[in-house]
Amino acid sequence: MKYIKEAWYPVVWADRVSRELTRHVVLEEPIVIYRLENGSIAALQDACPHRLAPLSLGKLKGDNIECGYHGMTFDCSGKCVLIPGQDIIPGSALVRSFPVQVKYGLVWLYMGDPKNADPKKIFHLPQYDQEGWHAVQGDTLRIECNYLSLCDNLLDPAHVTFVHTTTLGTPAGATVPVNNEYRNNEITVWRWIRNGPVIPLFQKFGKLNGNVDRWHYYNYSTPCYFAIDMGSCPPGSIPDMEKRHEGVQMHACHVLLPVDERTVLQHWFHVRNFRTDEQDMDAELTASLDMAFKEDKVILERIQLEEERDPDFKRIILGIDAAPMKMRRMVDKLIEAESDAARH
Ligand code: FES
Ligand SMILES: [Fe+2]
Repeated sequence: MKYIKEAWYPVVWADRVSRELTRHVVLEEPIVIYRLENGSIAALQDACPHRLAPLSLGKLKGDNIECGYHGMTFDCSGKCVLIPGQDIIPGSALVRSFPVQVKYGLVWLYMGDPKNADPKKIFHLPQYDQEGWHAVQGDTLRIECNYLSLCDNLLDPAHVTFVHTTTLGTPAGATVPVNNEYRNNEITVWRWIRNGPVIPLFQKFGKLNGNVDRWHYYNYSTPCYFAIDMGSCPPGSIPDMEKRHEGVQMHACHVLLPVDERTVLQHWFHVRNFRTDEQDMDAELTASLDMAFKEDKVILERIQLEEERDPDFKRIILGIDAAPMKMRRMVDKLIEAESDAARH
């Protein structure tokens, strides 16, 4: 196994799900997603149990899917309700269905045993719907790399100075060491950069100038959820590091969908506490973030190609790799525990 199965994964923005049968690939499994007549969403394995014809090539009949090959028809729970020309429906005429939740504008599927599908395990950011905060839907980037490389990147404040020079970084960050905290299946990598120049993004949108104290808290939780808390304040104005909300603060959230071993979807949105009623600014800020995340995409896709060209390449490990390595161990451990459980 290469993926944690007992988890919720974000597949697609809910506002893009319609009455059209649409095929998605989640952890290498093809899944057809569609909207039911009552507005809720269904997700079935995208394979007819007869000859494996993708159900997404079939037709929607009410809330049922009619296979486009010989017309076997399945309801939204995956149960076969009709076989043309045959009265008896075998018990094995079943398509797997996946538990679905909609949260933060995204459709989440539970990929493990449905009886473990507790919605409380979906990525959570309390500020999302709190007063004083404003949530803005971002976008989805498709990156041709292994999802763990993107996880490395999202736990890595050290690259920001070099990759995101016009948006998220300034040279002042380069030498400030990071702190790593590990809890169960969570990691926080954080640092404060005191009395340094404001980053371009906060200068533009946060109306800050000159020098600031600024922080980054990269919060990770398994399987691949990230909330990156970044913010700034006038130097010395927030002595208590837990009172970051008194400054200009933004949570850039990234929730990933591993499609297969070399493709990942990066769904992202942001939640901020400044200029919360300026809807015009949302699109502009989203465009700047989009530009920044595409800078990572360029590097990650090149690294993927190089890794494929030379799979045995021996990398050297730096101090900044501690948190990414810990993340990979957490993922491995969960995958191992799941395959142990499956064996017993
Ligand atoms: S392949 Fe679907 S009914 Fe034959
Ligand atoms: Fe980045």
